[in-house]
Amino acid sequence: MSILNKVRKYRDDENRLKWEGTFAEYLELVKKRPEIAQTAHSRVYSMIRNAGVEVKDGQKSYNFFNREMFGLESALERLVEEYFHPAARRLDVRKRILLLMGPVSGGKSTIVTMLKRGLEQFSRAEEGAVYAIKGCPMHEDPLHLIPHHLRDEFYEEYGIRIEGSLSPLNTMRLEEEYGGRIEDVMVERIFFSEDRRVGIGTFTPSDPKSQDIADLTGSIDFSTIAEYGSESDPRAYRFDGELNKANRGMMEFQEMLKLDEKFLWHLLSLTQEGNFKAGRFALISADELIVAHTNETEYRSFISNKKNEALHSRIIVIPIPYNLKVSEEERIYEKMIRESDMAHVHIAPHALRAAAIFSILTRLEVPKKQGIDLLKKMRLYDGENVEGFNEVDVAELKKEFPNEGMHGIDPRYVINRISSAIIRKEVPSINALDVLRSLKDGLDQHPSISQEDREKYINYIAVARREYDEIAKNEVQKAFVYSYEESAKHLMNNYLDNVEAFCNKNKIRDPLTGEEMNPDEKLMRSIEEQIGVSENAKKAFREEILIRLSAYARKGQRFDYNSHERLREAIQKKLFADLKDIVKITTSSTTPDESQLKKINEVVATLVDEYGYNTTSANELLRYVGSLLNR
Ligand SMILES: Nc1ncnc2c1ncn2[C@@H]1O[C@H](COP(=O)(O)OP(=O)(O)O)[C@@H](O)[C@H]1O
Ligand SMILES: [Mg+2]
Repeated sequence: MSILNKVRKYRDDENRLKWEGTFAEYLELVKKRPEIAQTAHSRVYSMIRNAGVEVKDGQKSYNFFNREMFGLESALERLVEEYFHPAARRLDVRKRILLLMGPVSGGKSTIVTMLKRGLEQFSRAEEGAVYAIKGCPMHEDPLHLIPHHLRDEFYEEYGIRIEGSLSPLNTMRLEEEYGGRIEDVMVERIFFSEDRRVGIGTFTPSDPKSQDIADLTGSIDFSTIAEYGSESDPRAYRFDGELNKANRGMMEFQEMLKLDEKFLWHLLSLTQEGNFKAGRFALISADELIVAHTNETEYRSFISNKKNEALHSRIIVIPIPYNLKVSEEERIYEKMIRESDMAHVHIAPHALRAAAIFSILTRLEVPKKQGIDLLKKMRLYDGENVEGFNEVDVAELKKEFPNEGMHGIDPRYVINRISSAIIRKEVPSINALDVLRSLKDGLDQHPSISQEDREKYINYIAVARREYDEIAKNEVQKAFVYSYEESAKHLMNNYLDNVEAFCNKNKIRDPLTGEEMNPDEKLMRSIEEQIGVSENAKKAFREEILIRLSAYARKGQRFDYNSHERLREAIQKKLFADLKDIVKITTSSTTPDESQLKKINEVVATLVDEYGYNTTSANELLRYVGSLLNR
């Protein structure tokens, strides 16, 4: 569909969704679908819940955030369960400002933007529909028209509690335009839109000296005073502050803690009492979610200021730490690259992983637990199997530092360094080493890294590099083995046949000649030695394998070459060991002969076809691994 068609369709959809009717008609709608009268907080919560929630290992994961936020499941669960959920049920947290606190580039703004864009869409959906008094600049809730003395009865009949009073402007309009007949007041469906300033607002402080409260709460329109005769006529007031416009939806408060206290007090009364003061009018009721964000330093200095004491209890702080999982970090980079102008550049496999390993290491606290180092902790956090540890250990590790992830390298730094690596290199293809080098070079210019951290970080780059070296060697060796999976499977089956014969004291039959032979001790040992199974331990090892094999058979499962971690490792090492010399000589030869050249071309082709390299990065990889093997 062309873009203009899409625009047209959107407009048509919107026209189709439009609704307008009298308050009496609106009440009919409310009776059928009470959710259209829900509060702003409740609407946000429904929006998140409607997108779906999955529970994995006791951890909730919200589809609403999943599309763009990675590795923050537990922080987001806290956000939803400690704020949105109780706020939706009209509990007291609703009356507090939501403050997301976390390190720079940790996704705070992204979360807020997702909520805003989400609400815009949700207000166009059936379940998220919002209605307002027609012609009201604050899109006031039509139920405010119900007089206070009738609200208990309204609750009896509709099951809906009404909060807030009819605004001064609509009180006047009710009299002037509708002769006091609330049933005739026109109501319309509204659609949230930040661009059109409906239900979504953003407040950014300007210079504290010139900051005008009118930006938040609107102001007198002096040109109309002559017409209406007085400043206290609500028609002479422009309800166009950010708080007015965000009514029924949400307002993002940028740099909130940098603001003057005078400003903060307005907000507090809004959140606390659900109303604010504007001009010379009675208090104006508003119903909106207010979200601010800040970093830890700013927050600490805010709470250490005595003057702000009264504000503390009116803010609810939800920490948004960095992601701590390597594979999720890779997804963050992939997303950021996709969204950037580097999307066309070839990024060799494992380049982002190498960067992610580095970033995560800078964010993790060194474990206190015995027998575990930072690298193992990193693997465990990412859900990998680490011999000798299980989920209980992971939970314990997490408990050691409940506030982990509040410092370290941020994703944007990594993306900036990748981008500068691309600029430096002339070919549009970069690999893990380019990325690690660029990450290292950039540390000098990083504004917020202390000398001490810099040394630690340089060490982490070395660790990431060693991890990458292993990955690179494996990859090349795999590509050298003619059809790796096949070969591994073949060798494994061969081994298992022999083990079975050995344990059962049977002979083995040669598939070609039919001749009976003793189990091939040399073959079995050559595999077992790869993982250090000693002559004395071999019997026990083989028996264990056999037990595992029959356990699989009993359950009707296939025992394949991934079923036994150590055996898999042994098979892989054996395959590689057989090839070691070939790989070494072929990759490091400066003047390869014809057969070597042929092999190199084959390997490059495998790397390109099956492993996601391009010819540049595949050749770079071969050269690098050649140098590693010759060290
Ligand atoms: N956990 C995460 N999942 C997905 N993207 C993330 C995550 N953390 C950071 N990002 C990305 O990093 C960039 C900076 O995030 P941003 O929301 O601006 O951070 P903040 O407001 O906390 O400084 C954005 O492109 C964001 O999408
Ligand atoms: Mg931000």
